[in-house]
Amino acid sequence: MTIKSLDIIHDEHRALAAMLSGLRSIASGIEAGRLKPDYDLLESMIEYIDKVPEKVHHPKEDQYLFAKLRQRCAEALPVIERLETEHRQGDARMATLRDALASYRQQGEAGFQGYHEALKTYIEQEWKHMNTEEREVFPLAKAHLTAEDWAEIDAAFLSNQNPWEGAAGEYRALFSKIVNIAPAPVGLGG
Ligand SMILES: [Fe+2]
Ligand SMILES: [Fe+2]
Repeated sequence: MTIKSLDIIHDEHRALAAMLSGLRSIASGIEAGRLKPDYDLLESMIEYIDKVPEKVHHPKEDQYLFAKLRQRCAEALPVIERLETEHRQGDARMATLRDALASYRQQGEAGFQGYHEALKTYIEQEWKHMNTEEREVFPLAKAHLTAEDWAEIDAAFLSNQNPWEGAAGEYRALFSKIVNIAPAPVGLGG
């Protein structure tokens, strides 16, 4: 059975993974002296992560998928609680990354190391988070949620904006820009 909302969540994860992998390869290029920092580009990539995954994607997981699974499967409680805690830390983690970029912009080369470390930490946390959702939560949800549960969750996720473009297509140009800079993004899972 294919479940629409899980496909949408997976697609949203791929959009976030593409952005993270773009940020990583730009940072590697800067480190290797192949690229000069384009601070505005880096800022808009971080803004995308803040506006789409952090403000749209995570809240919907909490309100719909996790809320239903809580009712249906006690076994899922520890992992759900861990993921919800990580969602609550999202704003603070974004702020750390944004501050690191602001210092980099201000200090130039001297600020690169700090930015790069903050970026690597952020990427590692997000990857772990998405993989936990796909490997642990998706299978439990598939096993325990009812057809009515899925109808409700699907309706909520179907109303999402396009994860690759944002609500008004404002990130379309950003995605084509990073695709040109970064090597092809590696999608999550199978
Ligand atoms: Fe999440
Ligand atoms: Fe997620």
